[in-house]
Amino acid sequence: MNTRPPPVKPITSNTGLKHVFSTVWGCLREGTAPGRSPYSIAQLATVGTDGTAKVRYVVLRRVCEDTSEITFHTDVRSAKVAEISANPSVALVTADLEKNIQIRLEGKASVITDGPVTRTAWDASRDHSLVLFRNPLVPGTEIDNPSDGQPGNEPADREDGYENFCVVVISVTHIDWLGLSADGHERASLVRSGSDWCGSWVAP
Ligand SMILES: Cc1cc2nc3c(=O)[nH]c(=O)nc-3n(C[C@H](O)[C@H](O)[C@H](O)COP(=O)(O)O)c2cc1C
Repeated sequence: MNTRPPPVKPITSNTGLKHVFSTVWGCLREGTAPGRSPYSIAQLATVGTDGTAKVRYVVLRRVCEDTSEITFHTDVRSAKVAEISANPSVALVTADLEKNIQIRLEGKASVITDGPVTRTAWDASRDHSLVLFRNPLVPGTEIDNPSDGQPGNEPADREDGYENFCVVVISVTHIDWLGLSADGHERASLVRSGSDWCGSWVAP
């Protein structure tokens, strides 16, 4: 996305681009609301510590249009956290495949391992989501059988696993919106400049 010269016109000067911008953030917000949404899940790409591309699904947890931030939760022991710590550049893609809409994002990620943000996220998480963080096995550890990787069944203290839990906040810097339609495909490229967004329509 960011290999072309960046668009320089503020989106405030273009009604269509303003609409794309608010639609994108509306879709992302919808992804964090209770119930199913095509935008609840995104594919997160990182640069591997070996320099190769890595990608996996994550659940969108919080979205803030005003600060251009989105968050997801993960295990501090996971590979993606080491990757982000070494290189914070990330990219995400999410889509509504019924409506043929694709949203691609780029940004810088930061890992928050403790403090009010992490505490609030942990306290608001449902028990079945927290089970993963109570597993003594580091994600990706080789095991003999799949059943060896399951967390135990003993009732846990609600704090168990907190030390393995973190919130990843992505400061979004680029948005690429694509709508495929029989009437004609449309694509917009939006780039953050400080707290403002510039953008242009681009060939799909
Ligand atoms: C539908 C779905 C949603 C997922 N959501 C998350 C998530 O929010 N956070 C997370 O750490 N892993 C999530 N995972 C698991 C990751 O995709 C990945 O397998 C795991 O985090 C290990 O990734 P890593 O080794 O690249 O760190 C999800 C997987 C699926 C299939």
